[in-house]
Amino acid sequence: MRTITLDSTFEEYESLEKLPEADQLLVEEAKKAADDAYAPYSHFHVGAAVLLDNGKVIRGNNQENAAYPSGLCAERVAFFATGAQHPGEKIKAIAITAYPEGKKLPSVPVSPCGDCRQVMAEYEQRYGQNIRLIMEAGQGKYIVSESVKNLLPFLFSADSML
Ligand code: THU
Repeated sequence: MRTITLDSTFEEYESLEKLPEADQLLVEEAKKAADDAYAPYSHFHVGAAVLLDNGKVIRGNNQENAAYPSGLCAERVAFFATGAQHPGEKIKAIAITAYPEGKKLPSVPVSPCGDCRQVMAEYEQRYGQNIRLIMEAGQGKYIVSESVKNLLPFLFSADSML
């Protein structure tokens, strides 16, 4: 037996203003997207903004449904919209923000669910380029990861099927 220890490094920023400017702009886009979320069941608004290598920004937000599992998370809405509307364009970064209705800030970090991690990881592999993740972390703070891989060790990929 041997023990495998994996290291993940994240950056924490004290406030929106402390983030690099490009990240701040992307977070602002994600916040706008969160306002337009369709979340009549959870009342939890999630917004995502994807930045492409060519500078374009694609927004996504959670889209819920009376048949609950038919709904989709903001991150996947943004990624699939990107894949559909900008095929072949590399993804540079994604900002993710969220708030419960009636509040404007989450009290705890908002990190992507497992399904969204899996989908984002595949885009990272597909384009052979790390995707920077900027996540709202509660109390006005932000956590940044240089890659989706940080959030999904031992990910399942096409290589797993060889
Ligand atoms: N949600 C997202 O949009 N992204 C996540 O990563 C986690 C959860 C949405 C799904 C649902 O509409 C609401 O948040 C409550 O789970």
